[in-house]
Amino acid sequence: MNNTFDFGVVGLGVMGRNFILNVAEKGFTAFGHDLDEAKVDSLLNECGNNQDIGASANVKTFVNSLSLPRKIMLLVPAGKTVNIVIECLLPHLDPDDIIIDGGNSFFRETDKREEYLKAKGIHFFGAGISGGAKGARLGPSLMPGGSKDAYNLVQPIFEAVAAKFQGEPCVAYLGPKSAGNYVKMVHNGIEYALMQLISEAYNTLKVYGDYSNPELNDLFIKWNRGRLQSFLMEITSRILIKKDNQDDGYLVDRIMDKAKQKGTGKWTSQNAMDLGIPVPSIDIAVSMRELSAMKEEREKASRFYKSKVVNKNDKNELEKMVEEALYFGFVIIYAQGFHQLAIASEEYSYELDLCSIAKIWRAGCIIRAGLLEDISNAYAKNDKLSHLLFDTTFIDAIKPVVESVRSLVSQSVKNGIPLPGLSNSLTYFDAFKSSRLPLNLIQAQRDYFGSHGYERTDMEGIFHTEW
Ligand code: 3PG
Repeated sequence: MNNTFDFGVVGLGVMGRNFILNVAEKGFTAFGHDLDEAKVDSLLNECGNNQDIGASANVKTFVNSLSLPRKIMLLVPAGKTVNIVIECLLPHLDPDDIIIDGGNSFFRETDKREEYLKAKGIHFFGAGISGGAKGARLGPSLMPGGSKDAYNLVQPIFEAVAAKFQGEPCVAYLGPKSAGNYVKMVHNGIEYALMQLISEAYNTLKVYGDYSNPELNDLFIKWNRGRLQSFLMEITSRILIKKDNQDDGYLVDRIMDKAKQKGTGKWTSQNAMDLGIPVPSIDIAVSMRELSAMKEEREKASRFYKSKVVNKNDKNELEKMVEEALYFGFVIIYAQGFHQLAIASEEYSYELDLCSIAKIWRAGCIIRAGLLEDISNAYAKNDKLSHLLFDTTFIDAIKPVVESVRSLVSQSVKNGIPLPGLSNSLTYFDAFKSSRLPLNLIQAQRDYFGSHGYERTDMEGIFHTEW
């Protein structure tokens, strides 16, 4: 029994347990560890006589069960727990063993851990996992970075357990150091923005079209068969129709409108600011979760500043506008996320391959969407593409839908119904396509009060004026 299992997992919560079952199903042997005996017992009971799976609450038994070099995946909460688990494992490990952090760790922490463990002869890398509990069991999208040599040793296992898109595994080696965690962070930033946009579409249809939940369900199902096809649209259609078990209504209508967050969207925004990359659709999605939490204040303010919806729309017209607006918003959100990845790749020397990132997001992960096929094609055609909005497929697709976005945003402004995700995406687009912005005045003001200098449109150099 000693040193025979191919793969180890620390943390037998729902993700860890499902990941082990997935690994074992693909023909590998997997051993789990959790200090909580109940979780160990529950996994062992579930597998019965399956000799491909083992588990123990004893760290020594766990480590001694794994073949060398050991491949140990941590599926524990990000933060201090990762450090604690590493320290528990360290005394029992051998040189060249591999620890993989499968959680949503902050990428800078991953860099520190890699350095720390390298000095001890242990390989460490982060591998973002997306797809939730179901994905871990049936096939997630995996985003590994770090040492390529270490990754090569786990590659067969990762490729076997990952989701498949038309037979291609949704996993690829993404780059050195914390590239895996970084890409997963931006994935989550995109996820926040898409969720915000979909919530706005849902509200728009209710407010201006008086759609019932079954009608919304039908519409989301229909849209999910077209260019908006995505996991988030699919689950939204199901959520809308789920009955509440407390009464006759729908569950979604009883859920408190305060959205929580664990921080990955916020990190994406913060890091985009550090890199000087505008990602306003992601920024506003984070702010909206914060604003949603101000429930008491919102209720109070709603009594002071009442607004009345005056415009209603014909349903066919509204459906067309909202579908086009969602498509527009999706494109802008992915464009911002991929732009951030491109710049981060240069800044942190990740050498990211954007085409392959788009490909591994086509199945398994939360932001999987039909649109990612067009995105991967755009980068396959031109790996130097500096922005998705320069790709001809997107130029042709975006131009005809902008009018609908303008109509919806202006209608909402008139009625006092917020459309922050959509209007920020539109503003980003309008600014992005403006060859001249009024920021010349800001440069003049900076030079006026701070002698910061300015460039001119007609001469090279830095100038200063005594205003
Ligand atoms: C997750 O990691 O579970 C989600 O992708 C993002 O979580 P959040 O919405 O709680 O931040």
